Amino acid sequence: MTGAASIGADAAWRPTERLRPDAAGIARAGALLRAGRLVALPTETVYGLGADGRDAAAVASLYAAKERPRFNPLIAHLPDAEAALREGAFGPDARRLAAAFWPGALTLVVPAAAGSRVCDLARAGLPSVALRVPSHPVARAILAAAGTPVVAPSANRSGRISPTRADHVLADLDGRIDAVVDGGPTAVGIESTIVACLDGRVRLLRPGGVARDAIEAALGRALDGTGPAEDPAAPLAPGLLASHYAPRAAVRLDAAAIRPGEAALLFGGPLPGVEAAALALDLSPTGDLAEAAQALFAHLHRLDASGAATIAVAPIPRRGLGEGIADRLERAAADRPS
Ligand code: TXA
Ligand code: MG
Repeated sequence: MTGAASIGADAAWRPTERLRPDAAGIARAGALLRAGRLVALPTETVYGLGADGRDAAAVASLYAAKERPRFNPLIAHLPDAEAALREGAFGPDARRLAAAFWPGALTLVVPAAAGSRVCDLARAGLPSVALRVPSHPVARAILAAAGTPVVAPSANRSGRISPTRADHVLADLDGRIDAVVDGGPTAVGIESTIVACLDGRVRLLRPGGVARDAIEAALGRALDGTGPAEDPAAPLAPGLLASHYAPRAAVRLDAAAIRPGEAALLFGGPLPGVEAAALALDLSPTGDLAEAAQALFAHLHRLDASGAATIAVAPIPRRGLGEGIADRLERAAADRPS
């Protein structure tokens, strides 16, 4: 394990400041980032844990705080498309997608520009770079104040449920990071869709906040490949480990009925047996997938906190944002070491 000794030092306890999303809080967040510190910030997808992407020491402390394996590269966030376009080599497809979806919940993986400021460690040594321009006004203001590409994975410890509120961030990382800017609950609720534009192919690496059909409409053709990483031994997105978003409870997918004592994650109304659930929460009683995505991680946090041994999950259609929701739930259900 590289840096086992430094993990302890880097992750040493420090008070975490809770900052307001006002001018003073944004200026403070920008100054902390420029000083090499770790700041969690709201984006429209989930809260990110930001560090200065140029600064290898800051990036190393980010990996340590999250307990994230260093082979898993980070997304660099920029305040506008112009700044993002300077960090990578964008062909016509990548340009079209950037124009259609930035600012927004799309991450583009492109060859890194020769002059890219995103350091090697943040890219896990890859020749490509993952870039995103978030639409959240507080995120964009912090990025502008920082004046540097800010690398930001979801602000949770590696393998845990992603945070959609500042309280989720603090529950996982209080004392391990310098500050969190509280921008309230996030609007999209699941992470960005990741699309790789490399070697003339356009591939979906991770379904997320922008639906596949919207991407294909903007592209004017179908995406290449059929889905995330074809070869699980050499995943295109090294972070797509099968077990991820893990609650403490076991997760039972496509439940037709709820068993007594289970926690229930519903969609579009009750299931048989729900009266005997430890706790039941509906992602969207009306069956709206955008509403379901927004509620997903907060509901998982609450159901897990109920102490039930199993979370039973209602069937969720895979159209539109349902593809990203189903992806997160399958990872939550995957076998994992205890
Ligand atoms: O919505 C989001 O994308 C959030 C917010 C904070 O922006 N961020 C996020 O980051 O979800 P993270 O670190 O949890 O997921 C980033 C994913 C990982 O699966 C990583 O492997 C992949 O992006 N990735 C990063 N750079 C890559 C590259 N050069 N090639 C392929 N995959 C890459
Ligand atoms: Mg994550």
